[in-house]
Amino acid sequence: MASSFSTVPKILHGQGAFDQLGGVVSELGDRALIVSGQGSMRRQGFLDRAEALLEKAGVASEVFEGVPPEPELASVDAVRSIAAECRAEVIIGIGGGSALDVAKAAAGLLKQPLPIADYFYGAPFSDQSAAFVAVPSTFGTGSEVTRNAVLSDPEKPLKQSIRSESFLAHAAIVDPELGRGAPAEVKAASTLDALTQAIEAFFSIRATPVTESLSFGAVALLAAHIENFVFHSDDLDAAENCATGSLMAGLAFGNAGLGIVHGVVHPLGIRYHQPHGLLCGVLLPHALRFNRDHVPGQYALLCGIVKQDIAEFCTTLLQNVGLPGDLSGLGAKAEDLPILAKESVNTASTKTNPRPVRETDIIEILERVFGLKQ
Ligand SMILES: [Fe+2]
Repeated sequence: MASSFSTVPKILHGQGAFDQLGGVVSELGDRALIVSGQGSMRRQGFLDRAEALLEKAGVASEVFEGVPPEPELASVDAVRSIAAECRAEVIIGIGGGSALDVAKAAAGLLKQPLPIADYFYGAPFSDQSAAFVAVPSTFGTGSEVTRNAVLSDPEKPLKQSIRSESFLAHAAIVDPELGRGAPAEVKAASTLDALTQAIEAFFSIRATPVTESLSFGAVALLAAHIENFVFHSDDLDAAENCATGSLMAGLAFGNAGLGIVHGVVHPLGIRYHQPHGLLCGVLLPHALRFNRDHVPGQYALLCGIVKQDIAEFCTTLLQNVGLPGDLSGLGAKAEDLPILAKESVNTASTKTNPRPVRETDIIEILERVFGLKQ
């Protein structure tokens, strides 16, 4: 059966990749806007380094800082208006998944006339985008190589992806150095997101031999290196392997899609305000057991990587990196579950899960996750 695979045209990765920022951006334009989060890239000196690299390459730059961890539509419109003011030809996202997603959506919609809310709710837009360069500092979302941006509308409230082929970055720069200094809990949550994405893409009904090989390789790298990456910031080898594993997971799920965990975590995230990766990590063992008998061959392959049951491995990994084993502390009630199930069951991610998912299946998993049932 014919299948396709598309991704970012230029991916620079590994130690020293960040030093090539100036050269990469100067090929795309003379004026750039850097978009970043709430200070960690500035504190660690990466924004100053980026500005110096751009200046040396003859690119004028401005900086927008302050993208929050759960970015709202307003952040994208703020970046669009600053980018228009400074006539930026290139938007560069430097930071975690939220900074990258805001930069990505702002670049994708820079030349469109309406506020982002119109496009978020389905108004069509052309594929005329500004150039976008993605430089991740957390190794989890894979946003540097995907065509979607996850955003929230606090009015509804609704958290969902806005997606377009034109949102793919023009270049991705994945340097392990940028992620080493993050706090352990940030590293743990983001790499558990990457591991979940690798596994869900591996099981997806849209997986192809190309995406399967990327998923399989990503699981192998992440499973072997997450613990050292989380606790040993001087272990550059672990950082590089997690950065590469996250990149490979992004390449895989960007083409193959995801599964039930990602179908459920967005409605959960907007209600309970927990980090995306933490929610993914807690749900992952439950999803693995739910799918096990529908994909026995793939399940066995994953067990072969970790030399034990993969669901048990993930449960132990959660404990070892200091994430909770369940969400009983959030105080969810049984009456909250039907609406969560309704919001989760028809998402694009749930639809590519290998075992068909009913609302009752989601309720059963959530009862266990929330400690409402053993
Ligand atoms: Fe994710």
